Amino acid sequence: DEDYAVLAEKTLKDLEWCLEQLETVQTHRSVADMASSKFKKLLNIELERMSGGPRGANASTANQIENYIKSTFLAPIPPRLGVETPHADELSVLFNESLDKWGIDIFRVDQLSNQHPLVTVVFSIFEKRDFLSKFRIHPSTLVNYFTGIEEHYKKDNPYHNAVHAADVTQSTHVLLNAASLVNVFSDLEILASIFACAIHDVNHPGVTNQFLINTENELAIMYNDMSVLENHHCAVAFKLLQEPNCNILKHLDDSQRKQLRKMVIDMVLATDMSKHMSLLADLKTMVETKKVAGGCLLKLDNYSEKMQIMQNMVHCADLSNPAKPLPLSTQWVTRVMEEFFNQGDREKALGLPVSPMCCRETANIEKSQVSFIDFIVHPLWEAWTELVHPDAEHILSTLEQNRDHYSELSATREAEEQQQQQQ
Ligand code: CMP
Repeated sequence: DEDYAVLAEKTLKDLEWCLEQLETVQTHRSVADMASSKFKKLLNIELERMSGGPRGANASTANQIENYIKSTFLAPIPPRLGVETPHADELSVLFNESLDKWGIDIFRVDQLSNQHPLVTVVFSIFEKRDFLSKFRIHPSTLVNYFTGIEEHYKKDNPYHNAVHAADVTQSTHVLLNAASLVNVFSDLEILASIFACAIHDVNHPGVTNQFLINTENELAIMYNDMSVLENHHCAVAFKLLQEPNCNILKHLDDSQRKQLRKMVIDMVLATDMSKHMSLLADLKTMVETKKVAGGCLLKLDNYSEKMQIMQNMVHCADLSNPAKPLPLSTQWVTRVMEEFFNQGDREKALGLPVSPMCCRETANIEKSQVSFIDFIVHPLWEAWTELVHPDAEHILSTLEQNRDHYSELSATREAEEQQQQQQ
């Protein structure tokens, strides 16, 4: 018996030691969080005991008290990965393998997350980057806010929907991990970049700025024809922060909140394609003036220089679908072209001139991909690749392979058409 008592005491001490170690190892959840979850668990047990007590007149009072205490003091704990899905295990495996990789199958993320790709991507990135404890964001506030954002992305848009937002967010998460960017950005700047990507197209109506201006849409009137959509995306996102239990920035101090707001607005406004050439010019100048130290770490002195990099990074992620593995890239092309054609149909119905690439009868999809890559996407990615050398080489080469694929398709199509004409 004495031996057992000694063994039991030793085991208890070992267990205590293990618990202490666990508390220090779990850096992603502070000790305070753990204590709070323990109190909540205890409170839940007490409440259940109280309302499960003797039935009768007191029972409904007990129920009311239980509901009041639960709804007021116990914020709901969101599900694993931020979303309710019967495929949580599969999604978890997919994220473990590919959340940090270029070319995650974002369409599979969409399916496995029960069509909540944005919430689950943002939730997983925030967890991975330890943002919940760094910025004291309650997990349920995070889920509430990004569920609201996701609901404001239009499911009917073939391209500008929550899957695109999740894609751009995850792409930026990967770009931020480039070795040459390590220690370049502060946590607040990284938070701003991820946030900006997640909201950058929220409530997109599926038509271009020019269409909104030409049709005197109320958004164009509101924003005086200037970066109409991009202004709208920012306004919707900051408005949604004011919904109950949605303010993920609540625990930032005033200065941080102001800085973050400015950064997010600067990044989202820079996704307006009419700013492309000046962004690219800034990036090229930066690459040429060799803003690098020791061949790897970027040395950026002021807000404007950092912001130029952040704007270009988000712009690259926004124009990254042609640089994704071909099976993903082709799906994006189908989607973006379908959205263009829908706009073309509306222009025809309104008797307006049909915008370039928007006529479903005459558009040459393969040729337009080659031109889009040659004139817009490749120059941008080439400059980015030079900036973060050698981290993005594989992205640039995927882009070049995809370009050649479309070029071959286009040549085959032309040859077939010529043959048909000759017959
Ligand atoms: P927007 O999201 O406003 O900004 C980037 C634009 O690039 C996007 O709208 C589309 O108009 C365009 N775009 C993105 N991907 C493709 C693609 N694969 N082919 C042609 N245009 C594209």
